[in-house]
Amino acid sequence: MKKVTKAVFPAAGMGTRFLPATKANPKEMLPIVDKPLIQYAAEEAAAAGITDLIFIIGRTKRAIADHFDKAYELEVELETKGKLRALEELRGILPSNVNYIFIRQAEALGLGHAVLCAQPAVNDEPFAVILADDLIDGEPGATRQMSELYNYYQCSLVGVQHVAPEETGAYGIVAAAPMAERLSRVTRIVEKPRPEEAPSNLAVVGRYILTPRIFHHLRRIERGAGGELQLTDAIAALLQEQQVMAYEFTGTRYDCGSKLGYLEATVEYALKHPELADAFKGYLEKRFCVDCSQPKRE
Ligand code: G1P
Repeated sequence: MKKVTKAVFPAAGMGTRFLPATKANPKEMLPIVDKPLIQYAAEEAAAAGITDLIFIIGRTKRAIADHFDKAYELEVELETKGKLRALEELRGILPSNVNYIFIRQAEALGLGHAVLCAQPAVNDEPFAVILADDLIDGEPGATRQMSELYNYYQCSLVGVQHVAPEETGAYGIVAAAPMAERLSRVTRIVEKPRPEEAPSNLAVVGRYILTPRIFHHLRRIERGAGGELQLTDAIAALLQEQQVMAYEFTGTRYDCGSKLGYLEATVEYALKHPELADAFKGYLEKRFCVDCSQPKRE
């Protein structure tokens, strides 16, 4: 039985929904309070027991590789000035016992193509795909929940959640037959269908566990929605020969590729940040006359 020890982080997209912030900076480097999105994603993977982190990066994404590199000059500077707390935080960016692999995707041909670029590092093993702009606040993390299911069922899984019917055009949408609580068997998957064509409103939100057979299909798919090579289309082909499950993970997901989702995540993470929470609550209470001790959450 193979366990999931590799995760792929496609990060070669253009981030057009977040311009101009993403003109020269990768959207995966946008910070939520004090950590970039890609670091939350890497920590989620490490917490799931993943040891090989494979980043697919394009031009303008060098900052991602730099972020996970050792910053010698900065470390010496902090040490000399006695800023030991900051030094400790800086060193903590890199979870220990983890390998970082960076692969350049020369052309942004789509998510399917980005995942195919990871094949030389993934080889013949099951692997996770984590889209860093879908930030998921869960305990345990969504990747850990899904890799535990993989260990049991030994089949591909997509992380899903219900979205508003008018939003189907922004997601991969599945039709699925219920199997157990939060778990169903995917019978169909379509990339970005219009609401009137969508098989349901159950959307794939940035977490996948895939068997290596997906590469066979990724090499054969043609350009799909938006003229891009879509991971969803390869999963649709995989479905014809292997079981794929949809899992409604527990946790809250923030669409940090959108400005509104990003702001929501920022507020929520600030409200539970050990050093900032009290001061930030105080600000919100004063500014908006709200009582932050009584959060109204669904
Ligand atoms: C991608 C996938 C889509 C998925 C979405 C989740 O789309 O192609 O199937 O539902 O991520 O965030 P993108 O947001 O890159 O257009």
